[in-house]
Amino acid sequence: MFPGTLKYALAGRALKNKLWQLNVINIRDFSTDKHGSVDDAPLGGGHGMIMRADVIDAALQATENAPGPRFYPSPRGAKLTQSGIRSLSGGKGALFICGRFEGIDQRVIDKHDLIEISLGDYILSGGELATQVILDSCIRLLPGVMGNHLSHEQESFENGLLEHPNYTQPRIWQGIPAPEVLSSGHHEKIASWRKSQSEDITKKRRPDLWQDYLDNK
Ligand SMILES: C[S@@+](CC[C@H](N)C(=O)[O-])C[C@H]1O[C@@H](n2cnc3c(N)ncnc32)[C@H](O)[C@@H]1O
Repeated sequence: MFPGTLKYALAGRALKNKLWQLNVINIRDFSTDKHGSVDDAPLGGGHGMIMRADVIDAALQATENAPGPRFYPSPRGAKLTQSGIRSLSGGKGALFICGRFEGIDQRVIDKHDLIEISLGDYILSGGELATQVILDSCIRLLPGVMGNHLSHEQESFENGLLEHPNYTQPRIWQGIPAPEVLSSGHHEKIASWRKSQSEDITKKRRPDLWQDYLDNK
């Protein structure tokens, strides 16, 4: 599953250019039986299977020297935010344990102080896609990955607001003109139009973000 989507476009080019690196381990290599099992039935009964503490523990011990925090992507974790991504991206790296089945034995989460981190209030089948999402959003912030470092500074969440609407050529498409100010060449007017659009959209769509923005202003 790795590098998966991270093999392509910005992240893929950056991987080739060694701006970031990925070390993948296969949990099954740490199984102790001939079938390579990594899971067992839940204690106390119930549906599904649970990833075993001894197998995950062995994998974590083998990666003891990996730099940075150790994450377990999980719907129970704190929701990922752009500021969390920014601080992770500025760090030395991170380790991700990708869960499958019904998740992993609580004892190994506790023993290794794994930080649970969630993509949102919905359930994925496994932690691999979650990890790729997290990595993708970190990688694009690394120096040298994006052509114009200013482009991400203007994106949604970077200044506490959602992004303004964007337009490109042709200026009139199917009879619908793009806002005139964008063709004025007047940088200050354009910036102020974009800011007021950002504010309107945030106010309408994300009252929670809007309130934080007002509080931090
Ligand atoms: C089917 S899910 C397990 C869900 C778990 N039984 C629960 O109800 O919280 C399997 C794995 O997918 C990953 N996963 C699922 N949803 C996720 C989310 N919203 N954010 C991050 N990882 C998620 C986790 O690694 C999880 O262990």
